[in-house]
Amino acid sequence: MIKLTPSLLAADLMNLGREINSMLDHGVDQLHFDVMDAHFVPNLSFGPSFCRAIHRQYPDLKIDVHLMMDNPEKYLDIFLQYGASSITVHREAFEDPRPCLNKIRAGGALCGLSVKPGTGEETLLPFLDETDVVLIMTVEPGFGGQKFMPEQVDKIRFLRANGFQGIIAVDGGVNTDNAGLLKDAGANWLVMGTAYFRAEDPEAVARYFKENA
Ligand code: DX5
Ligand code: ZN
Repeated sequence: MIKLTPSLLAADLMNLGREINSMLDHGVDQLHFDVMDAHFVPNLSFGPSFCRAIHRQYPDLKIDVHLMMDNPEKYLDIFLQYGASSITVHREAFEDPRPCLNKIRAGGALCGLSVKPGTGEETLLPFLDETDVVLIMTVEPGFGGQKFMPEQVDKIRFLRANGFQGIIAVDGGVNTDNAGLLKDAGANWLVMGTAYFRAEDPEAVARYFKENA
C-alpha cells in the first residue's frame, strides 16, 4: 500500500489554503512538514507555530513532521501539542533515539526514525521494534528539487528482509517514475514535494496513487 505525502516545502506558500484545499479535493489527507535548523542541515524552514496554524485550519489533515535538526527532543512536546500526527527524528542526531521514539508514541503520534544517504541501514536495527515509521532519505536532506538516489532503495529491501513490518517512508526526488520501484521494494509513504506541488497536473499524481495503491 503506497500513500502520497506532499511536502509543504514545495507548496506555493502565498496560496497555502488553496494548495491544501486542492490536496484534500484530490483525496490526499497527509502533509509532510520539514523542520530544518541551519545546523543539522544547511537550510531553515518551518517552525512549530506554522504547524499549529495549519492544524487549526485543517484539524483532520495529518501532519507528518520531519525534524532535520540537532536536539530534536526539545521540540517533541510542542509539535505533539500543535497537531503532529507523526514525528520523525534522525538516527544521526543521537546515540540512542529510544527516549524520543517512546515519547512521541506516548504523546499519541506515530514515531519515525530517518537515515541520511550516508548512514547505514544496519544502524536502525536495534530500534525497529520501537519505531512506527522508518524514513529513508533518497537525497541529502536540506533542499527540495534534488535528484533521486536509486542506490538508497536497497535500504528498503534490507528493512523488509529483516522483518520490519512498520511503515517505510521515502523522501527526496520521489516522483511517479520511481514510485513503482519504491512500492515493489516495500515502501509505503512516498513524500513528494516538487513532483506533486509543482506538477503540471497534481491531480493526476494523486490519481496515480489511487490507481496503484
Ligand atoms: C528534503 C526534505 C524533503 C523535500 C523533498 O530535505 O526532507 O521533504 O521537501 O522535496 P522533493 O520531493 O522536491 O525532493
Ligand atoms: Zn522531509
